[in-house]
Amino acid sequence: MSDGFVLPRAGTEEDPVRLAVLISGGGSGLAALLRYQQTPRCHRTVLVLADKTDAGGLQHGRGAGIKSIGVPLPMHVEKAERRVTHEQLVDAELEAADVELVVLSGYMRILSPWFVRRWKGRLLNIHPSLLPDFPGAHAHRDALAAGATVTGCTVHLVDEGVDSGPILAQMEVEVRPEDDEGALQERVKVVEHVVYPDVLDRICSGLISL
Ligand code: GAR
Repeated sequence: MSDGFVLPRAGTEEDPVRLAVLISGGGSGLAALLRYQQTPRCHRTVLVLADKTDAGGLQHGRGAGIKSIGVPLPMHVEKAERRVTHEQLVDAELEAADVELVVLSGYMRILSPWFVRRWKGRLLNIHPSLLPDFPGAHAHRDALAAGATVTGCTVHLVDEGVDSGPILAQMEVEVRPEDDEGALQERVKVVEHVVYPDVLDRICSGLISL
């Protein structure tokens, strides 16, 4: 294992790896994963956590009978301390639920080195571009502005950088001349919903090594 990445144990259908899915918005990726997990897999979602109490995607978790909570930023805490205090609250929920692998699925917060180091190797992200192209919060807008003819999505292990870390899978999507940000986002999501469960199968059955 390199650079401090410690991957999760290999799970089985009888003893699946316990996942937390972290979201910020509508959670279509979460919904796709929960549909996939309706069949027994080597991973199971035990916690859905959003950084807002009103994130629409929390309903997908609740509908599936999974503990689904909003953990908003603690606005009463000094700004300089707020991010780490928030992450400590998130971390406490992960520990309380015996989470073994954290799946970022449209979670729009940048994580501190403290949090990354605690979960390194057990912290996955999906990003809507072919990294290292177009990192950051506006991947589709940036791809269109650059005149890219191909974009896609990337699943990667999270390291201390922004949208960096070892890439586990990528899938391409054609950019069409008539695409706007919304149309491109929707077509990329279609492939994201296939790629992420596939990577989770591989990492949670011990098929990925670094
Ligand atoms: C997804 O396209 C995901 O790749 C992206 O947010 C969307 C969430 O959609 N994530 C990022 O941009 C992270 N930087 P969803 O809430 O419908 O699953």
